Amino acid sequence: MRLEGKVAIVTGGAQGMGRAIALRLAQEGAAVVIADLTQEAGQKVVDEITAQGGKATAVATDVRNQEQVQAMVDTAVNTFGGLNILVNNAGVGKIIPFLETTEKDWDFMFDVNCKGLLWCSQAAAKVMIEQGRGGKIINLASQAGRRGEALVLAYCASKACVINMTQSIALALAEHKINVNAIAPGVVDTPFWEEVDKQFAKLWNLPVGEPKRRAVASIPLGRIEQPEDVAGVAAFLASSDADYITQQCINVDGGNWPS
Ligand SMILES: NC(=O)c1ccc[n+]([C@@H]2O[C@H](COP(=O)([O-])OP(=O)(O)OC[C@H]3O[C@@H](n4cnc5c(N)ncnc54)[C@H](O)[C@@H]3O)[C@@H](O)[C@H]2O)c1
Repeated sequence: MRLEGKVAIVTGGAQGMGRAIALRLAQEGAAVVIADLTQEAGQKVVDEITAQGGKATAVATDVRNQEQVQAMVDTAVNTFGGLNILVNNAGVGKIIPFLETTEKDWDFMFDVNCKGLLWCSQAAAKVMIEQGRGGKIINLASQAGRRGEALVLAYCASKACVINMTQSIALALAEHKINVNAIAPGVVDTPFWEEVDKQFAKLWNLPVGEPKRRAVASIPLGRIEQPEDVAGVAAFLASSDADYITQQCINVDGGNWPS
């Protein structure tokens, strides 16, 4: 129970990697706030956690909205007595060719993936600084943030931004013993990739499922990534085992990206 007595927030915690991370942090002893667009969606994960004997609560939060983000942090403090861990997992992506990328697409991805991360990190860091006991912030980047892709310009750019923001926030918070790191997953078996597969299939005129099959075929470890592959690394970064790690982005992608 590496996280006994800790309080964590997981944004986008209602499904996919956020759900797996929330479950894992709770199994390691943390009380978890599931922050997602609707309370109902988050409540399902709360029920899973409480059924396993853990502690959790759900709060409706759009990470783009600073008032809702403040309410999310207040929920952690008022319900569980503080805040030690923030997982900035909420994210959105669309597959759009470079020449067809619109201002609306660009703003949507940057608003959720980058601006939302900024608001959540600011609000959480203020509480962590006031508590004076350090803390951990973990950001979900992507292999897409490591390189460009012709059909994925805005998403790739937003995730490169997440990697860069991780460095700036880590440097800003180092004096407060708040570690800030990112995880760059590869092709993860979540509802997100179901959508990505459909969008690639349409653009490439392929049957649904074929883009995902091709993406998985090129992974050196030979299988699709599971949300639990990411959850274990998030739990490590949230624990005192990672006290001397900050400003890093760890690839968890089956060897898809070399550095
Ligand atoms: N699935 C992949 O292959 C993959 C790979 C690399 C990185 N990622 C990143 O990992 C993270 C999780 O991905 P996933 O595959 O689990 O995604 P997902 O789409 O399955 O789940 C994302 C969750 O975020 C929530 N969300 C979306 N917008 C929100 C907002 N404005 N405020 C609060 N919550 C919001 C959704 O409701 C959903 O519950 C994302 O940041 C994604 O970009 C995913």
